[in-house]
Amino acid sequence: MTPNMTVRCATTEDSAAIASIMRRASTALIRRTTVIGCAGLEAYIHDQVQARSVNQYYVATEGDRIVGMSAWRCKGEYLFLNHLFVLPSEQGRRVGSTLWSHGMNHSAVDRTRYLALDVYENSTLAKSWYQALGMNVVAQQTLMEVPLIAPKTTVYGDWSSTFLGASDPDYVRYGFSQFTLTTDRTTYTLGRLGPSLFRATPWAILDDEAALTALHVLDNNRALLCIGTPQGLTSAVRRRGVVLGQTERLTAPLEALTDRLRSAASSSGR
Ligand SMILES: CC(C)(COP(=O)(O)OP(=O)(O)OC[C@H]1O[C@@H](n2cnc3c(N)ncnc32)[C@H](O)[C@@H]1OP(=O)(O)O)[C@@H](O)C(=O)NCCC(=O)NCCS
Repeated sequence: MTPNMTVRCATTEDSAAIASIMRRASTALIRRTTVIGCAGLEAYIHDQVQARSVNQYYVATEGDRIVGMSAWRCKGEYLFLNHLFVLPSEQGRRVGSTLWSHGMNHSAVDRTRYLALDVYENSTLAKSWYQALGMNVVAQQTLMEVPLIAPKTTVYGDWSSTFLGASDPDYVRYGFSQFTLTTDRTTYTLGRLGPSLFRATPWAILDDEAALTALHVLDNNRALLCIGTPQGLTSAVRRRGVVLGQTERLTAPLEALTDRLRSAASSSGR
């Protein structure tokens, strides 16, 4: 840790700086496929910090400058590292390591045993760091963009949805929101992500013509971002769209990670 770097809980006044770091340190794929690319990211972080939501935000500061951020969430035995980003100009100076150690020490609760995080496979530096710390890949998700094609018939079938269009307050404030779509097969929980994507997980919706038709009717300017296991990505599914990339879920026992972070810090003389 550099001598004048500190880590503290984020306040609502930090929201703009946090959002800016997340955007500047992330890849184009992360921005396109997550809330990080949405116009209301700052408002979202502001509201989460203000509501003392289950997501705990920290910032690393040097003087009055914010140089990195992390966000954490406890669920059962797992502590999730939801976000970890350092300003590109400050990377490689142990800001990330310091944010990680601090967040792990301050966010874990008694029942927490493991750390988990998701990493995009093309974030190679982050991924090799996590693996060097002893984290193992336990699951993968493939991201595919599927165009929504106009239905051949004007008979739309039976479906209903909680989609609120222009009057959805979450979408207006954050640039993303959730809604449900019910067809005779099932009810899907879907996302509206930025101005050009619907988000669905897993692949099953691609077999439901009524659902795909409904999405086209709800907003014909959007494509569908589908996220599912690589095993479900059959050649028939693959033909429906363009594979954008893959994420990996990594986990490790907290105790082992604490030891490894401590020895990495001491061997680097900090
Ligand atoms: C990944 C990230 C958070 C790491 O933060 P950082 O402050 O740059 O990293 P640190 O200086 O604390 O170093 C952490 C490890 O990465 C390695 N590392 C950092 N910068 C490196 C570089 N340019 N080349 C090679 N290794 C590097 C260090 O060797 C260190 O490993 P060590 O503890 O074994 O020595 C930061 O680089 C970042 O924001 N990257 C872009 C966004 C991203 O990928 N976030 C993760 C999304 S899941």
